[in-house]
Amino acid sequence: MTGEHEGRENLSSETKDLERARQSLIEELEAINWYQERVEVIKNPELKKVLEHNRDEEKEHAAMLIEIIRKLDKTQDKVFEEHD
Ligand SMILES: [Fe+2]
Repeated sequence: MTGEHEGRENLSSETKDLERARQSLIEELEAINWYQERVEVIKNPELKKVLEHNRDEEKEHAAMLIEIIRKLDKTQDKVFEEHD
């Protein structure tokens, strides 16, 4: 995960926190994909509904992480407003 290239002890706390936030975002996006795949194949309508709800909660978690990443990383924030 993080610190693999330069050694964690050499990284600032700001960099480490941003890496934690980005890794958490990766995990939330993976969770959305996993729930979506299960939703598509599940036959039981009650279980399907629960997993759809869980999938959408993961989307909320991803949005919360994007929001904090934008606060902590000004360049990332800027490119959300303007990019090629
Ligand atoms: Fe989550």
